[in-house]
Amino acid sequence: MALKGADVHEYRRSAQHPVQALNLSTLIQISDTFFSEILYVTVQYCEESFWFIYENCSEFMHSTIVIRDETPDDAGAIRALTIAAFEPVVISQHTEQYIIEALRAAGALTVSLVAEFDGQVVGHCAISPLTISDGTRDWFGLGPVSVLPAYQRQGIGKALIFEGLARLKGMDAKGCCLVGHPDYYTKFGFMNPEELMHEGVPKEVFFALSFVGMMPNGNVTFHSAFSAKEALAEG
Ligand SMILES: CC(C)(COP(=O)(O)OP(=O)(O)OC[C@H]1O[C@@H](n2cnc3c(N)ncnc32)[C@H](O)[C@@H]1OP(=O)(O)O)[C@@H](O)C(=O)NCCC(=O)NCCS
Repeated sequence: MALKGADVHEYRRSAQHPVQALNLSTLIQISDTFFSEILYVTVQYCEESFWFIYENCSEFMHSTIVIRDETPDDAGAIRALTIAAFEPVVISQHTEQYIIEALRAAGALTVSLVAEFDGQVVGHCAISPLTISDGTRDWFGLGPVSVLPAYQRQGIGKALIFEGLARLKGMDAKGCCLVGHPDYYTKFGFMNPEELMHEGVPKEVFFALSFVGMMPNGNVTFHSAFSAKEALAEG
């Protein structure tokens, strides 16, 4: 239920006109049939009905999800949720929290988004610079991405990734790579590239998305923080 409220809240906050605010990513986030139908009907007819439905469905909309940049206060929550999210992931080496912290310490968290639900940080998405052996610049690595187990499969991961990609495009990035589950990332336009490889990583879990129509050709190296295996020394 949470995202319905969040989405409608966002329309109201950001829209000059609610119908104009129904862009693709927000529509995708609304997967519940009931609410999709309401929005469909609303788009078909008029603005007044939108607000009528908004007010009358408020019982479904008590909670809000906010996607925002991390602040220094979020570091502990990001660590905890990353550990919890990856704990059941068999192929994980359970070093993701160290990677995020090493990226942060290196000033290499190009984008670090959190999803906040009722004041609690429940999701996180990191983006950092990478290098490609052909010299192509302005490509980035997406991940780790995590959502607290109790909040998974409610569209939060998707919202974080869409926002992360939007941020990259906004800074004129040329593309993005990641290592991830084959069934998940194709939803965002990622593909297994013929032209790119990441040493030691099977092709079917290595993904790339070009924002400029052209795929570079070479070997991808993620930031050195991805080799972090333990917490950074204090101090
Ligand atoms: C992967 C993860 C970030 C997804 O976040 P989420 O909030 O659960 O995902 P969403 O609800 O946004 O799911 C979006 C879509 O992907 C699907 N999906 C979610 N998790 C999936 C998975 N592990 N495998 C395949 N599909 C998945 C959902 O069913 C949904 O499909 P739909 O668009 O057809 O409805 C989250 O499950 C997680 O933290 N997993 C553990 C850590 C991890 O594996 N991170 C990714 C590697 S860096």
